Amino acid sequence: MWEYTDKVKEHFLNPRNAGEVEEANAVGEVGSMACGDALKLTLKVDDDGKIEDAKFQTFGCASAIASASALTEMLKGKSVQEAEKITNQDIADFLGGLPKEKMHCSVLGRQALESALSNYRGEAPKEQEGEVVCECFGVTDKEIEKAIRENNLTSVEEVTNYTKAGGGCESCHDAIRELIARVREEEAPIKKPKLSNIQKIKMIEETLEREIRPSLQQDGGDIELVDVIGNRVLVSSLGACAVCKASELTLTHFVEAKLREHVWPELTVEEVPK
Ligand code: FES
Repeated sequence: MWEYTDKVKEHFLNPRNAGEVEEANAVGEVGSMACGDALKLTLKVDDDGKIEDAKFQTFGCASAIASASALTEMLKGKSVQEAEKITNQDIADFLGGLPKEKMHCSVLGRQALESALSNYRGEAPKEQEGEVVCECFGVTDKEIEKAIRENNLTSVEEVTNYTKAGGGCESCHDAIRELIARVREEEAPIKKPKLSNIQKIKMIEETLEREIRPSLQQDGGDIELVDVIGNRVLVSSLGACAVCKASELTLTHFVEAKLREHVWPELTVEEVPK
């Protein structure tokens, strides 16, 4: 049995703004009866771009009704620019949360809002983007990828909760797993390849020559590489740098920063006597 917050129950039992706005100038319709969820959102936007009125009609479960009711409450009085920023998570948060199996109801609300705002701007209704991955619920790869990105989803079960994809015959589960893996890979931070010690020393010398020495020499100073032990770069200051009181700052703020940027992000620079 799903646990509903008091606010979800309240919006389900007493939905706000059910119906259709007269003379609406922004209309969004999403979902389909075949999939079991459909939502029509109608808005009246005034000449200053402020949402005067918002109403909904839906065919769906308690969470779909509560999500649509919450969305219309959130929209009234907002500017179009503010409305654009509302996410499906904002709708769920407004209700104090939704059962994870019902997050797709908040996604439906967000999709209806996108559709209504593009209708307000006079844009042609969007063609369905991408390829249908889940035949049971008519969900495309683009919709699944978007849900994965925006909600940081990591399993087929979560994708089903947010999009319904995969909630029927399950034959699309492998395709959903591949989409999750692809998005995760795209979003993984780019790892710097590990450097061998010889490569590291070579790159340090090149960076000293190209990026660091010319600036130091302009002020009558210089620097010499003494040794590299792991990520510790041992150097000696020469000329004006050897007697400069700010040489420690130069080493960390300038030399170390340049070496981290051009060679390896974990390098530290230490001064050793020559
Ligand atoms: S094709 Fe996706 S659940 Fe059936």
